[in-house]
Amino acid sequence: MSRLPLFVVVAPGLERLAAEELASIGIPATKVRVQHGGIDLQATTRQLYAIHRWARIPTRVLVRVASGTARNWDELQALVRTVDWQAYLGAAQTGVELHVASHRSVLYHQGAIGERVSAVLGRPELKGGQGVHVRLDRDRTVVSVDASGQLLHRRGWRSETHRSPLRSTIAAAMVRASGWRGDAPLVDPLAGSGTIAIEAALWAAGRPIDRPFAFQQWPSFEPGTWASVTGSGRPDALTAPVFAADRDAGAFAALERHVEGAGLIGRVTVAHAPLTAQQWPTAPSGRTVVIANPPYGHRVGGTGTGDLRDLYATLGRRASDAGARLVLLVADRRLADATGLELEELFQVDNGGIPVRCLASVATAV
Ligand SMILES: C[S@@+](CC[C@H](N)C(=O)[O-])C[C@H]1O[C@@H](n2cnc3c(N)ncnc32)[C@H](O)[C@@H]1O
Repeated sequence: MSRLPLFVVVAPGLERLAAEELASIGIPATKVRVQHGGIDLQATTRQLYAIHRWARIPTRVLVRVASGTARNWDELQALVRTVDWQAYLGAAQTGVELHVASHRSVLYHQGAIGERVSAVLGRPELKGGQGVHVRLDRDRTVVSVDASGQLLHRRGWRSETHRSPLRSTIAAAMVRASGWRGDAPLVDPLAGSGTIAIEAALWAAGRPIDRPFAFQQWPSFEPGTWASVTGSGRPDALTAPVFAADRDAGAFAALERHVEGAGLIGRVTVAHAPLTAQQWPTAPSGRTVVIANPPYGHRVGGTGTGDLRDLYATLGRRASDAGARLVLLVADRRLADATGLELEELFQVDNGGIPVRCLASVATAV
């Protein structure tokens, strides 16, 4: 069976969790190479499709269609010509969105590189067209085709942009890192537009990512293979309540709409209430996990640092009173300390230009 060389792009900091996730969908760790910012693997077509259907942490998937050394225009164009473009581009009018990057290379002018590549492809350049990436580093040149299309954090359920939504990919990483598996209550008490609770519930309920992907437009697309991937379900392991709340009316309206849009009415319970007045679910078994993305202090305006310290302190107290494990994303470690809990770091990542840490209360502290 032929294999496709893939680079699964992952936000730096989430690579290990993404590799674990790939293992959970049948691509063992022994078959992948974890790099900074992504994962290299040789995948079957079925695996390429399955990653898009089931993996919630990656940002995009690139197929590395050619690689070699290019120190002049002839070498660059010869390399680009080795690719069977008919497999990816089809009709002559198919637009292409070119992404060129060059570092420490003889060919350094990105515009000129793009022109030479474009001349070989012979396709119109179009924003939103089939993504083609050309990357030169010390003359080593990799040509890749984007299998995903829109970035993978776009799941299809978000109908509106709340003022500071968390990327679904980061929410998915928090859920995985938290150790929650769907059989204990999950609470997001500062839910905003609902990203964490929705990601958690969709994953635990075995729901696939259901949106269009670029590879479905390729002439080499295999409908039968795709049908076998979409036809193979995952077990519904969501047996405990998922609860999401926010005190802000606009955020709550977005939360309600998104829970409905994601098909999770009855699976995610929502409340329009401040943290101090929320009734969290309890469960006959399993330890509640509270996963939160509190205001950082310099992104969602209107809340002073003193107020924020109170908010973090209340969060710590409520989690502690509920006997829950608290997992939170913070930009400022000192604010996190206001929870009064002993916290361990699960990962670091960049969220919309802000370096953040995902911290979790350690078992002895609650
Ligand atoms: C950074 S945003 C969360 C964004 C969310 N993760 C998303 O993806 O949309 C923080 C949220 O905390 C809410 N919030 C702040 N203080 C609160 C409180 N005391 N009680 C409940 N919600 C609060 C804000 O209204 C805001 O929606």
